[in-house]
Amino acid sequence: MNIAISGASGKTGSRIAEEALRQGYTVRLLVRKNSVIPDSLKACETFIISLANKNSLDQALKGVDTLVIATGARPSVDLTGPARIDAIGVKNQVESCKRLNLKRIILVSSLCTGRLIHPLNLFGLILIWKRIGEQALENSGLDWTVIRPGGLSEKEDNLQEERIKYTGPDQQQDAYIPRRLVARCCIESIKTPASIGKIVEITSSPDVPQTNMKKAIESLSI
Ligand SMILES: NC(=O)c1ccc[n+]([C@@H]2O[C@H](COP(=O)([O-])OP(=O)(O)OC[C@H]3O[C@@H](n4cnc5c(N)ncnc54)[C@H](OP(=O)(O)O)[C@@H]3O)[C@@H](O)[C@H]2O)c1
Repeated sequence: MNIAISGASGKTGSRIAEEALRQGYTVRLLVRKNSVIPDSLKACETFIISLANKNSLDQALKGVDTLVIATGARPSVDLTGPARIDAIGVKNQVESCKRLNLKRIILVSSLCTGRLIHPLNLFGLILIWKRIGEQALENSGLDWTVIRPGGLSEKEDNLQEERIKYTGPDQQQDAYIPRRLVARCCIESIKTPASIGKIVEITSSPDVPQTNMKKAIESLSI
């Protein structure tokens, strides 16, 4: 299976690409002109995209089976980032998939998406624009999954001690999860047909019972 990862130069996107490679997938990186690609991914096929340029997206997604969207606006003085990247940028990627008949998309979103009253919204109402991006996917008719992680950490050690807490939408709000585990969840989602059409919130801690995405979706009716 050919997996494309947009935002593959990012801290989560690069880990998603690494995990996909580790599990034997053919990986294509979708990045922008000046993105820095980690050494671990230098051998991957790479396409330069502009989220505002439909043609560049269509070219980059030709021949791909699954798209994982890990683009996201970084906090900056430019408060238009969330609207451009997390809403319109996601919508443009979804529309490109529709044109190309690429059926499967996973979107890395965030806990608390859709909330108006939240400190993160000081950055360009990001949680509102992220919800608009999610809705473009949900209304697409494609086989979509939204992964909403908690606060992201760079933790890479002792991950075997971490257990993932999976819930449906708007159940969790203030816990954390290492980006590496988010990456693994994105790949787990590709392998879990039950995740199609679902919003799955994920955080982690050593204190929750061991489970997996399939069991969690079945038992919690996510
Ligand atoms: N930080 C948190 O605690 C947190 C919590 C929950 C959810 N999230 C969400 O999780 C996702 C991943 O977060 P992260 O911190 O791992 O991301 P990140 O390291 O900031 O990476 C963002 C990626 O998006 C790309 N990007 C940004 N603007 C772009 C544009 N205009 N065109 C094309 N690509 C663009 C970046 O490319 P360049 O490398 O070229 O800049 C980079 O590859 C984001 O959607 C974020 O909002 C974050």
